[in-house]
Amino acid sequence: MHGTPENIVILTGAGISAESGLNTFRAADGLWEDHRVEDVATPDAFARDPALVHRFYDARRARLAEVEPNAAHVALARLDAEWPGDLLIVTQNVDDLHERAGARRLLHMHGELMSGWCLSCDEKFGWTGDMGEGAACPVCTSPGAVRPNIVWFGEMPYEMDRIEQALMGADLFVSIGTSGAVYPAAGFVQTARYRGAHTLEINLEPSQGSIFFDERRFGPAGVEVPKWVGELLQSAQSRPMSS
Ligand code: OAD
Repeated sequence: MHGTPENIVILTGAGISAESGLNTFRAADGLWEDHRVEDVATPDAFARDPALVHRFYDARRARLAEVEPNAAHVALARLDAEWPGDLLIVTQNVDDLHERAGARRLLHMHGELMSGWCLSCDEKFGWTGDMGEGAACPVCTSPGAVRPNIVWFGEMPYEMDRIEQALMGADLFVSIGTSGAVYPAAGFVQTARYRGAHTLEINLEPSQGSIFFDERRFGPAGVEVPKWVGELLQSAQSRPMSS
C-alpha cells in the first residue's frame, strides 16, 4: 500500500462473531440454525407464520445474552477510539458485540436483534427479552404489530447513502468475516476499489469476492484483526497523516 491511509471503511460479517460462539449463516448443511432462510428471514415468512419467525429471533436474542465480544471486536473498538481520520464500521451482523466492545463509529446495515419496529406507528426502539406475537409497542401501545428490526431478504438495507458516501471517501476498505454472498454489501469492495482505495480481506478462507482485494489475510478474526490493527496504529504513529 502507498502511504498511511486516512479514511477507513470496515465491513464485518458473521465470521467476526464466530469466536464469540455465534453461528455463521452459511454452514456446510446450507441451513441457518436448523432453518431454511426463506422460512425465517423474509417478509413472506413473517406474514405466513409470525409465531415461527418470532420464536426464531427470540432464541437468537436469548443466545446473544450468553456471549461476549471477542478479541476482534475489541481491536476494532480500539482502532475506532484511536484513529484520527474518518472511520466507519459497517456491520451486516444483527448482534450487538461491536458496541459492547466499545465501538462508536458503527452502523448496522441489516438491523439489530436488540431492536423492534412497530408496523402500526413505524417507530423503532430498543428491545430486550422475548418479543413474541402479542408484544405491545412501547410508543403507540398497539399490540401485535411489533416485528424484529431486522432487514430481511427482499428488503432494503439501512443507511445506504451514508455507506456510499463513506466508501467514496475511503482510502482503505477492509472486509472481515463475510462470505461475500449477499449484496449490496458484497459489492462494497468494488465501489471502494473503483475510487482508488486499498482493499484488504481478513477471513478464514477466500470469500466469493476474494479476487477484488489487493491484500488477503487468512486466519481466525480473533488473531488476524488485533494483529492488523496493531500494525496500522504503529504505522500511523511512525508516519503521521497529513494535517
Ligand atoms: P456468512 O455465514 O455467509 O459468512 C461468514 C464468513 O466468515 C465465511 O466466509 C467464513 O469463512 C468466515 N469465518 C468463519 N469463522 C471465522 C473466523 N473465526 N474468523 C474469520 N472469518 C471467519 O455470513 P455473512 O457474510 O455475514 O443477512 O452473511 C451475510 C448476510 O447473509 C447476513 O448479514 C445475513 C445473511 O443472510 C441477513 O440476515 C439479512
